[in-house]
Amino acid sequence: MHPLMNIAIRSARSAGQIILRYYRQGLDLEIESKGPSDFVTQVDKQAEEAIISTVRRSYPDHAFLGEESGSSGQSSVRWIIDPLDGTNNFIHGFPHFSISIAVEESGVLSQAVVYDPVRDELFTAGRGEGAQLDGRRIRVAPLRDPRLALIGTGVPFRDKMHLEAYMGMFREVVRDCGGLRRAGSAALDLSYVAAGRLDGFWEFGLSPWDIAAGILLIQEAGGIITHLGGGPVQLNQGHILTANPTIHRALSTAFAPYILADRIVD
Ligand code: IPD
Ligand code: CA
Ligand code: CA
Repeated sequence: MHPLMNIAIRSARSAGQIILRYYRQGLDLEIESKGPSDFVTQVDKQAEEAIISTVRRSYPDHAFLGEESGSSGQSSVRWIIDPLDGTNNFIHGFPHFSISIAVEESGVLSQAVVYDPVRDELFTAGRGEGAQLDGRRIRVAPLRDPRLALIGTGVPFRDKMHLEAYMGMFREVVRDCGGLRRAGSAALDLSYVAAGRLDGFWEFGLSPWDIAAGILLIQEAGGIITHLGGGPVQLNQGHILTANPTIHRALSTAFAPYILADRIVD
């Protein structure tokens, strides 16, 4: 196993232990609001501290971009961390949240880990080495018929700017696809596309830490992930669409009028 992956897994599991302790023991949460429908707890912060200190023990010179602590360090190797993706689920006792850790080397994503502590499922990918769930190879679903497709999404609850376009896209999927899910952890949504549990996924306004690991997982699982406007996916442009090539084409076509009307450019 690549040494960076080894540390990424170790740090994800240590964050998972902290999160599960609060979750299973029903310990009190200190909930702060960062903005509309955007919450953070002491658990998010402790989990991020655990990840960064675990990495620093092995790699004291690396740089970090963490959701809770922001940017730190100067290095060609950067760790992009969402210590608890799905905080709103976690707060409500809805058992679906994850830890997302990606390593970027000279601007290229090289390692990805998404860990679901409740199910003890570990999604991993190394550039050029495929994607795995608990060590077994995963691939995006081969489905070709959008009418059978199970599509995931996230609602634009923070930035309501794209709500009209989103509702149009939502209607298209409800009308023409096999099913729609809003599970509440973008990192797990992307991992589920990589594992073929979802046939596609789209969301507006995601942040780099929500998608960094998921991008590599999907690419290594043979999927397509782009900006919603059709251009290449970028960490800082979090409007994303992902699926296998056939379903991606079908969704792009169905979404095109709304993208155009909303002047969404990549
Ligand atoms: C959120 C989750 C959610 C998505 C939001 C994210 P957080 O992350 O991934 O599914 O819809 O856009 O911000 O705040 O729980 O880390
Ligand atoms: Ca997140
Ligand atoms: Ca988070």
